[in-house]
Amino acid sequence: MSKDNMNKNLPSTNLLDKDFKHFSLTIEDDIAWLNIDVKDEAANVISPEVVNELDKACDEISKLSAKGLILYSGKSTGFIAGADVKKFREITDPEEAREFINAGHTACKKLEDLTIPTVAMVEGFCMGGGLEVALACDYIIADDAPSTKLSLPEVKLGIHPGFGGTVRSIRRIGVLQAMPMMLTGKNLLPRQAAKIGLVDMCVPLRQLRNTAIQTVLRKPTKKQAPKSAKLLELGPMRKLVAMQMRKQVASKAKQEHYPAPYALINLWEAHGSVGDEMYAAEAESVLQLGMTDTARNLARVFFLQNRLKALGDKSLFTPKHVHVIGGGVMGGDIAAWCAMQGMKVTIQDISTDALGRVMGRATTGFKRRYRRDKFRIMEAQDNLTPDLHGQGISNADVIIEAIYENLEAKQSIFKEVEAKAKPDAIIATNTSSIPLSDIAKAMKKPQRLVGLHFFNPVFKMPLLEIIYTPKKTNVTVVKQAQSFAAHIGKLPLPVKSSPGFLINRILMPYILEGVTAQQEGIPVAVVDKAAVDYGMPMGPLELADTVGLDICLHVGKILADTVEVTLPTTLDREVAAGKLGKKSGEGFYQWKNGKKQNTGKSDWNGDVDQLQQRLIEKLTNESQKCLDEGIVEDADLLDAGVIFGTGFAPFRGGPMQALNEPE
Ligand code: NAI
Repeated sequence: MSKDNMNKNLPSTNLLDKDFKHFSLTIEDDIAWLNIDVKDEAANVISPEVVNELDKACDEISKLSAKGLILYSGKSTGFIAGADVKKFREITDPEEAREFINAGHTACKKLEDLTIPTVAMVEGFCMGGGLEVALACDYIIADDAPSTKLSLPEVKLGIHPGFGGTVRSIRRIGVLQAMPMMLTGKNLLPRQAAKIGLVDMCVPLRQLRNTAIQTVLRKPTKKQAPKSAKLLELGPMRKLVAMQMRKQVASKAKQEHYPAPYALINLWEAHGSVGDEMYAAEAESVLQLGMTDTARNLARVFFLQNRLKALGDKSLFTPKHVHVIGGGVMGGDIAAWCAMQGMKVTIQDISTDALGRVMGRATTGFKRRYRRDKFRIMEAQDNLTPDLHGQGISNADVIIEAIYENLEAKQSIFKEVEAKAKPDAIIATNTSSIPLSDIAKAMKKPQRLVGLHFFNPVFKMPLLEIIYTPKKTNVTVVKQAQSFAAHIGKLPLPVKSSPGFLINRILMPYILEGVTAQQEGIPVAVVDKAAVDYGMPMGPLELADTVGLDICLHVGKILADTVEVTLPTTLDREVAAGKLGKKSGEGFYQWKNGKKQNTGKSDWNGDVDQLQQRLIEKLTNESQKCLDEGIVEDADLLDAGVIFGTGFAPFRGGPMQALNEPE
């Protein structure tokens, strides 16, 4: 059949044969439509099989004489979510990995080399390998909705783009826009992406299809990096820019812990995006990175996060109204956070001053979070109402108590709450140290009380410990509490009620060991550096100052009854002298306006490795004990909790992983 004839008689049914599981190809008005709908997956994820089919589909398309090609997704969840991390983890043989990467390169090149205009029509997530495929098209048209997000987040998995995306992104938007995208892995909204030229246009969903068709027909000029960006590709400039980028990365991540961003900069510095050598070098670089422990552990963290997410089934419970009692540091922020998640929130406190402070602090928080989006700021403000007399209790779906840490005061609150609350409302305490069953004693139905243990600062910490007493707390309530966590965008972790729960119990021996080391004469800065060099987000002494030395002493005393910890005398002395850390302006460090001042002496002749080991061992050993005591269900949940609750070195995959696979 001649091409002309073929064009006239193009069938509207799928042109791909039955061996294709993930793609279908149809023709409409002489335009080829390639649909990706990965079989047996909720989202489109890229596996070797998918890459293989994309390659073959491109062969088929190249035989057609269509006016253009539009690539689109058959999933309601988005365009393409990236590589299939599950499959990616299963590839342990370097040759198999090389084959996958090369196949990805070949398929994207075939897509790029099609002689007809090609458009990626993006709706929803377009991430990682998905964006790399889109970049191989001539044009990217995106749905202008907040649910559409574009990113190259490979660095979060310890690698960088590996299907030619490093080259194509730089060619398209220039190194100064493409590198930060790849180095941080941040999501871009469609308008941000359009502004930097990553997408050609973002339009409302109703116009998406038509815009894609018009783009094929009109063939506008393709996006490419501005001339100024191309100048940065020249040898000496490239070196300078690379040096600058390396400096910025070094302030955030150490090369030995996170090699990927450094490898990415090296890759561009060595080859530049103008010629084609960077493609082959990219494949080699990503292959090497994929084999590192960091990549393996970060992929593990990705799964741990999904495991926690899956513990919160949103369909189990529909919270609309949250009532918070106690508008201090925690209650105020919990209330503000819930208001930002779209809940109606009433915040109760005995002090009108405290309520005033809550409203002021919340507004500052909303502004910081939403920047200039006045509508969203107003919406969050409207959701939050001060409530001096607790009128919100009787209508609330969730009631969270966050008054000061005192058993009798909490018991009296719960007596009142139980009498007034709806029969199906969640009744919760944010206590950090009082056993749940002690507080619940004051209630007629103690099985209703659950712990919702938030971490400070609430806006930043993703974990929410769901505290329960085995065989006492109602199992449905625990599940509903997990569901509530999901509704407010937190990661739920069920934890058995016992002193310190999980996170404080694990952190306290680490903090106290730091204090003991300092008491022995090791300089504060040396102690903290040893822990930070291991990969902890904060050394034990800075952490002690941040939490408050009085709180550390209090929690330490509670733990001392059940857990093997020794309380260093320094802690008592400092607290007695009013040195409470950050909040009082002095602790192990001096603090000014919430900022740590000079770190003091940093020379020490001792064995730093041994010091590091000593600090970290406290944490990992306590983790093992928690696991043995069944504080959480299994080692993965423990690792997940400690990573998302303390920031424990993600590239090590969690304390249990580190304990079982030391360096
Ligand atoms: P806070 O002292 O900052 O705030 C307590 C607030 O409760 C004050 O505004 C006070 O006026 C109010 N209050 C006292 N009695 C009340 C009553 N009968 N009715 C209504 N309001 C009353 O305390 P913070 O630090 O916010 O702690 C609250 C709870 O959260 C405690 O149980 C604490 O153990 C726990 N927690 C604290 C964390 C922290 O880092 N501060 C972290 C996690 C949990």
